[in-house]
Amino acid sequence: MSTVRSAAHFCSTPWSVVREILELAEVHPEDILYDLGSGDGRIPILAAQEFGCRSVGIENDRDLFVYSAKRVLELNLQDRVSFVYGNFFEADLSSATVVVLYLLSAVNGHLRARLASQLRAGSRVVAVDFDVPGWRAERTLSVVSDGNVEYTLYLYRRSSSGALCKDTPTNSASLPAGNANTGISKDSPARNLEGKENV
Ligand SMILES: C[S@@+](CC[C@H](N)C(=O)[O-])C[C@H]1O[C@@H](n2cnc3c(N)ncnc32)[C@H](O)[C@@H]1O
Repeated sequence: MSTVRSAAHFCSTPWSVVREILELAEVHPEDILYDLGSGDGRIPILAAQEFGCRSVGIENDRDLFVYSAKRVLELNLQDRVSFVYGNFFEADLSSATVVVLYLLSAVNGHLRARLASQLRAGSRVVAVDFDVPGWRAERTLSVVSDGNVEYTLYLYRRSSSGALCKDTPTNSASLPAGNANTGISKDSPARNLEGKENV
């Protein structure tokens, strides 16, 4: 994939739900967390501040990237948090031990092969509201935000045998193709990410 694709509109995860994500993934100081599509940067920043890990956010919206990078400097977190202005479909994820996805399932499906080939044993993936097609969640958790909106968190873990997937791989040919955003729009029948609260 050579061009940058917009795979989801910006919609931030509420702070209380961010904490639930990080607890579900059992983030610890030795972890390296990646947030694919990091928005305003809150997940990598909170992960470093409250869970002590190093973290990386990848974001292809320039304004959001600049905002996140400035926050890192303001909070003096530059030794632990970094933001990359770029396309997560092209990112090297091999150093990640925790990956957070707040993207549609179709987008998660596009990322699946990259995650499966690059993540090491013991790595965790938490998908917010939209599962990863073809993967079996170790745990599914419903959480209610401060604003009283329910979110579903899917926890996946890479085993030492490399297993993350079910035996029935998703047919990627059936996923939306092209350079359009991957089926995500305000009118998407699947789910309107922008319809969620921005807390
Ligand atoms: C639903 S928001 C999630 C923001 C943040 N992770 C959170 O949970 O608060 C999805 C983000 O992905 C970004 N995005 C979409 N496609 C991308 C791509 N191909 N590479 C990098 N970022 C992308 C969007 O700009 C948006 O900020």
